This record gives sequence, structure tokens and C-alpha cells, in this order.
Amino acid sequence: MSEHHIPVMLNESLDFLITDQSGVYFDATLGFAGHSSEILKRLNTNGRLVASDVDKDAFEFSRNKFAEKSGVSLYNFNYSFIDVIAKIESIQFFDGILADLGVSSFQLDNPESGFTYRSNALLDLRMDKTKKITAADIVNTFKEEDLANVFYKYGEEKNSRKISKSIVEKRTSQKIETTGQLVSIISDLVPQNFQRKTLSRIFQALRIYVNDELGSLLLFLENSLKVLKKGGRIVVITYHSLEDRIVKDFFKAETIVNLSPKEDPLGLVKREARLKLVKRKPIVPTDVEVGDNYRARSAKLRVAERI
Ligand SMILES: C[S@@+](CC[C@H](N)C(=O)[O-])C[C@H]1O[C@@H](n2cnc3c(N)ncnc32)[C@H](O)[C@@H]1O
Repeated sequence: MSEHHIPVMLNESLDFLITDQSGVYFDATLGFAGHSSEILKRLNTNGRLVASDVDKDAFEFSRNKFAEKSGVSLYNFNYSFIDVIAKIESIQFFDGILADLGVSSFQLDNPESGFTYRSNALLDLRMDKTKKITAADIVNTFKEEDLANVFYKYGEEKNSRKISKSIVEKRTSQKIETTGQLVSIISDLVPQNFQRKTLSRIFQALRIYVNDELGSLLLFLENSLKVLKKGGRIVVITYHSLEDRIVKDFFKAETIVNLSPKEDPLGLVKREARLKLVKRKPIVPTDVEVGDNYRARSAKLRVAERI
């Protein structure tokens, strides 16, 4: 376990994931290799791990950690390229695919990364620093209405219009370049007991938008099914309702064999179910885990099997 991040629902996720000790597994969100290290412990010498993270620091850390290990291939790629990675590795199918979404504690706690409203840093929020658009670009250039839509859609923030109006007023006199400036604008608008929640929602919204997190997730799910072996499992841990809804709806749609007469009145669409749910309801962390690791509190694990 790394001091950079405590892996969430480690045993639960891997008990579902590993169905063959000699199998090939894909960890889509390598991070600080908490889950990946445990996957390796559970595999025998024929087993292989392929893992990826879009964040360079996480990738470099884990590359050093696994430098001496055989049977491990790591990529500094967006997980939506899972099918491309499989091709590069000459792997037709993975035996299991894991994604532990969101950000690591290191990304959140590192004052320089600008992911948190708790410390002052450049308003950046990119996990992949090669991407062009930062959170500051959005806050300084988006029209008032578009900014409000980002806060509402990706942060479910009810005061989105009020906040975007104030940002647009403030930025005419001074460009908003730091997390501290944004925090101060929002803190002036919201009563103190709501400030933390509002700030979390606004930072979440900007982070999701800057990194196109929901678009990448959907593409990842789509591409995963192309490279998941029949009988193999896809295990996804989510941390907020927007990403959980995408996983839930995707799994549900892929388990449906026939569309209802209302959806397909002429019975023209024939599609095969590609998944079956291993658990109908999401699994959540135990009280003990949440007590030990507060960041696990919102986690939900969903698991489905390729058929
Ligand atoms: C919750 S952390 C994973 C922690 C990891 N399971 C561990 O135990 O150390 C999520 C990781 O996903 C990465 N990530 C987020 N979006 C990504 C994407 N689209 N492609 C690849 N990695 C991504 C983040 O950079 C972060 O390191």
C-alpha cells in the first residue's frame, strides 16, 4: 500500500475480478498501484498485468515500483484506449478489467496539482498535462450561461447561475488564475456552512469538464467489451452519482436482449446481450473501511460478466 493513496474496496474488487490465476488483467486506473500490486500477488507466474494511467506522476511512480517485475506492461494513456493498448500488447482478450475511477489522494492532496480548493495553486485541474485546456481557461473565457451549465451539469450545483454571474463580473477586472481566487469569489456568495459542499461541487464540475471524464468513461466501457473475454468480469468503482449512473445504465443496456415494444414497435432491432450482472445492487465499503479511509465513503462497486 502506498502512502500516496489507500486502495478502496481492494479485496471486494479483486475477489470479483480474478477468475483465473494465469489470466491477463487490465487495470485502467493504475494510480499508485494499490490494486495493481494486489492483482500481481493473486496471479501465478503465467499471469500478466497491463495497466494505464493518464497522470504522469502516477505512471512514473508505478513504473519505478514495478521496474523489477516481469509480466507487467504499463501505459501513460487514457483508459478509453484500452482496445489500442490490447492491440499493442498483442492481446486479443483480457480475463478481467478493473477501473477505480476519479482521482488519487496524491492528486487531491498535492498542493501543486491545483485539484483541491483547500490550497492555493494554479487553477489547472488537468490529469493529463498535455491537454491544452485548463480550468483557468474555462473560467476566464466561457460565456456566463455556458459556465453555469458546466457547474449545473457536472457539479449538480443549484447556485450555478449566481456563481457564474459573479465569476464573469470579477474576471473583467482581474483574470482568475489561481484556486485561491476562485475560492474567494465563491466564498463571498455562499453562507459559511455551505461553502465546503459548494466548493467541492464547483471543483468537481471543472475537473470533469477539463478531463472529459464522462466521455472517456463511456468510450472506455464501449471499448472494454471488445476486448473482454467471455466469462471475464468488468469491475468499476465510482465516486459520484454522475459516473455511477453511466456505469449502471451501460451495464443495464448491455444486459437487455429485447427492446420493449415501445422502444422498438416494429421489432426491427435485434441485439445480443453482451453482459450479465454479477451483482444487481452496487457494493459499498464497510463501515470499518470508511472509518479507516474517509475517501471511500462515496464509493460504489459494480460488476458485470461478459457473455
Ligand atoms: C482513484 S485513483 C486509482 C488508484 C489506484 N487504484 C490505486 O490503488 O493506487 C484514479 C486514477 O485514475 C486516473 N485516471 C482518471 N481518469 C483517467 C483516464 N481517463 N485514463 C487513465 N487514467 C485515468 C487518475 O489519474 C488516478 O490516478
